[in-house]
Order: sequence, then structure tokens, then C-alpha cells
Amino acid sequence: MDGNVRINPYLSGNFAPVRSEDDFELSVVGEIPADLRGALLRIGPNPQFEPRDPEHHHWFGGDGMVHGFYVEDGKVHYRNRYVRTPKWELEHEHGRALFGSMGDPRTTDPLAVGNEGGVANTNIVCHAGRLMALEEAHPPFVMDLKSLESKGYARDYQGRVTAHPKIDPTTGEMVWFAYGVGEMPLSAGMSYGVTAADGTVVRRQEFQAPFASMVHDFMTTQNHVLFPVLPLTGSLERAMKGLPPFAWEPDKGAYVGVMRRDADVSTIRWFNAPACYVFHPLNSWEEGDKLFCDVMRYDVAPLFPKADGSPGDKAAARLVRWTFDLASNSDAIKEEPLDDLDGEFPRVDPRVETLKHRHGWYAADPSGSKTVRLNSIAHLDLATGKRQVFELDAGDATSEPVFVPRSADAAEGDGWITAVIYRAGEDRSDFAVFEGQDIARGPIAVAKVPRRVPFGFHGNWVGM
Ligand SMILES: [Fe+2]
Repeated sequence: MDGNVRINPYLSGNFAPVRSEDDFELSVVGEIPADLRGALLRIGPNPQFEPRDPEHHHWFGGDGMVHGFYVEDGKVHYRNRYVRTPKWELEHEHGRALFGSMGDPRTTDPLAVGNEGGVANTNIVCHAGRLMALEEAHPPFVMDLKSLESKGYARDYQGRVTAHPKIDPTTGEMVWFAYGVGEMPLSAGMSYGVTAADGTVVRRQEFQAPFASMVHDFMTTQNHVLFPVLPLTGSLERAMKGLPPFAWEPDKGAYVGVMRRDADVSTIRWFNAPACYVFHPLNSWEEGDKLFCDVMRYDVAPLFPKADGSPGDKAAARLVRWTFDLASNSDAIKEEPLDDLDGEFPRVDPRVETLKHRHGWYAADPSGSKTVRLNSIAHLDLATGKRQVFELDAGDATSEPVFVPRSADAAEGDGWITAVIYRAGEDRSDFAVFEGQDIARGPIAVAKVPRRVPFGFHGNWVGM
């Protein structure tokens, strides 16, 4: 690389955006199961225009783009569309980027000041028939399930919602939270909310965390919610000095707030653990007075700098089990390892979310490279301890593996894993289907996208 030119890794290779909105019938190799019917909807950052400050552009700051793989009768139709947020529309009108990366005021054009800068790029969830693109600092953004046409922000949420709500399969409720809530940016204010099975927002209540932090995800059991406040801290004071708004500050320690789902936020009990970071839990459940959370735990937060602005350390996550004993006087979280393989994007069968699970899947990195480039898919059977791994060719990388039940009444874990795989040698992507409990066999079918699908964050299967 030229010493004078720094190429931003988030604008090159398969992180680089695609700028076309397409509809493709995909050619299929192998056999897509006839009973697999619905869509894998995935989302990720895809800046509409060259960022204003390409050197400091952060992956998380790009406009959302949805990639839909619609499966019916063994055929796969691909459709991708931008999430046309107010930011996207304003920049589209002017034909160039106006907002600074992650809202940085120093690189924001005056034309954008005072306008909503949400990008809706992190997760895409369907609840009560409403498809919503989500990020962390804005309300859900509604899209049409089939055409992927943008509909606008869901104002009934009355504020920001993070990208990781949980849908309780027994009640149909969606429980969710927000952080950085309040008048001032980067505050310790948080919200807890509930949307009823019919899509009506029935609760939104605010509370204060021990400190301001990036709370990417949370945990939910049948009767409890758990809010992890880990030391990837947010600080307006630091940002005003030109230092990172979010940074790794392990001295602050790690807290998890626990409350009953039906209780007032004033009852939150803060448990604690040594400093660590978790982007994503696998799943959580409860037995008597004990709550169990299986989470992908990092020793240090990856992808973010230290408080003095120096680069953060590379890190990888592994699955651990956290136990919270509500009957104990101790507020310490018990932690035990579940696995010894680096991974991210852990998922369960959605029919056991909030309930005890047996099976888990995740994108894995057997090479130990400690990057977000995950080139394997792993299945873990927690009843037998048996793990299966399918490793892709060198340079290839997989998205989050998403489970689809074989039928509504199939046993937990009986079904397929769907994922989008980047083929580096061809600079192109495949939609891949695996047998959920025979991952090591490799895909039973792939549908070939004629171009690449950029690396993204999350996806979900929607039955149709
Ligand atoms: Fe996430």
C-alpha cells in the first residue's frame, strides 16, 4: 500500500458498497428443499455516496441496504433495496454525502445540520406483520416485506430502539430496549419497552445505567430481562475534546441489570463481572431462581479505540454461560466456558428464544485471525457437547447463520441453516442452505448471485 494513501478497509473488498438495486432470479446448484418457503432478509451498511471523510469512515456508519432471498418451490429470487431514510433522501436529493461519519459534527455539511441522520443498517425484524429495519439511535424504520419499499419511521415507538429486540415465541410479544436516551447525546439513560403480539407498543419506561455505554444487545427469559452495561463507554466530554465518542475503558467494570419483565424499572438489580464485552448473546432462559445466559464474550471490545484515542486491541469472542442467582446475596455473575472456538453472530431456533435451548449455530473463525472475516459455520449440540464445523475455502466468508424450522411442529433444531457466503475467488456471493444438524456436510444447495453481496450485520427468516 502507498505510504501516503490510507485505504479504509470498510470501503474496500467485500465491505465496499454496491450501488445498484436489483432483482435477479438465481441459478441453483443442488436442491433447495421444497418445504423451504419464505425469505432470508439481511441488512448491512452500504453508503449511498463516498463518505465525506473516507479515512475515518466507520463500518457502522453506512446507509442500510436490505438483501432479500425469496425462496419458493426450490427457486430463489434476490432483491436488494436501500433503506430510504430521511438521511438517504436528503443526500439523494443533493447527489452527495452530507452527514459526517457516525454523525461527526466536524465533517457534517451545514445542509445536514438539524436533520435526522439515522441509517437503519443493523438488523431487520418482522413482528406482527411489520418489517422493520433497525439500528441503535433511531426508531424502527418500516419496509414492505415483499417489495422492500421504504415506508418511514415507526413513530409509535416514541424514540430510539436498538437493533436487537427479542420476540417471545410463547406470547408473541416483542421486548426491546434503547440506550443513550435523553436530552444529551452519549448519556447513561436507557429505555425498556414492550410491543404486544398485535404490534401495539404498550410500554416504554426509562432508567439510568451505572454509566453510558454502547449496549448493543440484551437478554430475555420468560419472566426477566437483563441489560448488559459493559465498559465500551460513551462520553460527550471525551468527544468534545476530539477523542472517541465510544471507547474501551475496562476500569469501569461490567454490570448486568436484571428485572422481571412485569416489574417497574426501579426494581433493576445490578450484577457485576470483570470487564468484558458482548455484542451478541446466543439465548437465555430461567430455572427457579437462576437465570442462564449463553453469550459470545470478548476479553476486550473489538473494533473500537481506547479512551486516549489509540487503537483498540484485536479480540475474538467465545461462548460462555453466565449464571445469575436471584436467591443469592452476592451480585457476582458466575461464568463458565461453553466452547473453545472463536465465533460471532450466534443464533438459536427462534422457537426457543427465551426458553432453554439445546442447539446453537454461529459463524466461526478456526484460524484465530481475530477479524470479522468469519470463514466457517459451527453447530453446537449442548446436550451432547458435540460440535460440527464447516470451513469454507480460504478467503471466503459467511454471514450470520439463520435457522429455519423444517415445519412448525418439528423438534428444536430440526431444520435448515441459511447463510450468505462471499466467494473471494469469484468476487461474488451465494445464498446457501445447510442441514441444521449436519453442517459439516456443507451446503445442500446454493443459489448463485451474479455479483457480490457486501458483508453486513444481521438477518432473519420470515415464513411466507
Ligand atoms: Fe448485532
